[in-house]
Amino acid sequence: MEIINHLQPGPEGRAAVYTKILKGIEMEHPKEVTVLVVGGGGRCHAIVDALSRSPQVGKIYCAPGNAGIAAQAECVPLKDTQVEELKEFALQHAVDLTVVGPEVALAAGIVDVFQEAGLRIFGPTKAAAVIESSKDFSKQLMARYNVPTAAYRTFEDYDAALQYVSHGPFPVVLKYDGLAAGKGVVIPETYEEAEHALRDMLLDDKFGKGKVVVEEFLTGPEFSFMCFVDGERVFPMALSQDHKRAYEGDKGPNTGGMGAYSPLPFITDEDKEYAMEHIMKPVASAMVKEGRPFKGVLYGGLMKTPSGIKVIEFNCRFGDPETEVILPLLETDIYDIFSAVADSAPMPEIRWKEKASMGFVMASKGYPGSYGKGFAIEGLEDALSDPEVRIYHMGTSEKEGRLVTSGGRVLMVIGSGDTLQQAHDKALAAVGKIKCENLFYRRDIGWRVL
Ligand code: AMP
Ligand code: GLY
Repeated sequence: MEIINHLQPGPEGRAAVYTKILKGIEMEHPKEVTVLVVGGGGRCHAIVDALSRSPQVGKIYCAPGNAGIAAQAECVPLKDTQVEELKEFALQHAVDLTVVGPEVALAAGIVDVFQEAGLRIFGPTKAAAVIESSKDFSKQLMARYNVPTAAYRTFEDYDAALQYVSHGPFPVVLKYDGLAAGKGVVIPETYEEAEHALRDMLLDDKFGKGKVVVEEFLTGPEFSFMCFVDGERVFPMALSQDHKRAYEGDKGPNTGGMGAYSPLPFITDEDKEYAMEHIMKPVASAMVKEGRPFKGVLYGGLMKTPSGIKVIEFNCRFGDPETEVILPLLETDIYDIFSAVADSAPMPEIRWKEKASMGFVMASKGYPGSYGKGFAIEGLEDALSDPEVRIYHMGTSEKEGRLVTSGGRVLMVIGSGDTLQQAHDKALAAVGKIKCENLFYRRDIGWRVL
């Protein structure tokens, strides 16, 4: 089994290697299935990697994928929002199951289109994805079903919003109602800052025409609670925490995430139980009652505040970069889990390794602002010589036979070990072996727990 724990697939891919191992010990194995993964960042690389550990999975396609994913899946040059083209591709290539990474594809209704064509797909419908694509919807849902969250009001009118905010207190939280690639939340410290942000959102339509949710500012450690959900059925994953700010000491602008780790020593079993019983299960059940049954990964962005655990946001898909640290800990065959949700079939027991996992994002200098591309990356093989290190590609491509940077976040280097300290040390040692002149990373991932 050890051989498949290395991120060093042969030309045939890891599933083929595994199949050979199985054949070697003369085991029967069922027909191999074909899977399409929609998306192209580190999260999709982690999903492809998990699928390639499944003895049932043969061919994996990934659209659009990236240079790292290409070692384990056949990349298809289609964007995640080319829903009709993706459907045609799935039909023509006898895809047995499609798994969707990014929210934009889900909000665009990819699940509805695939289901109408009789294709199996893992993810929520457009009607259910609204739990992420509309902050106002998710706040109303939580209010109706008594799910703990920050107090709020929603505004469409700039003057009314400004008037409300002018009474304080500050900081206050302003959230654009629709999808804004993680940039739609502003936390002004002063009235002037709030005025500026409301102007951007409601007068200048910086993210498009839409409403603004004005929310009470909460404090406490944040954590990510992802669950596999099929209607009323809710299956928890390991907890994780990401680091949203660009620089060490949690300073600088918000990013898509600069690192993550799991498990979380500061969240007790009672906390997790509370979040399951008072947040995740009631919300899944509420979505059924609202006629929007949720299937897929429901991501609770939660905060442990002095007055209990509260919801900061819901996402309708795997978190990024949380997925990259969590899926390497999954022991159960992920294809069985996806199938149980997609087909509403019995769920296998979901088992996790009793290990810790921590990942460092290596990003292009300048990110999350503007940055250059096309810088050569070397040393990955050396970094991967430790079997407890994985590297997921976030934004890489191949140019004239060389691996080069092609995104803001470029690589995520993940270490695993018996303790978070070991996972940290392994990941950082691997990061040190990667050579690229245009990358930076935060050395303090996991500061809260080390
Ligand atoms: P969201 O996109 O809703 O997760 O918001 C992005 C980030 O803004 C969160 O991860 C929090 O750090 C912060 N944030 C959002 N809502 C609140 C709140 N009510 N109180 C304090 N911080 C918040
Ligand atoms: N890590 C935050 C998110 O996936 O939205």
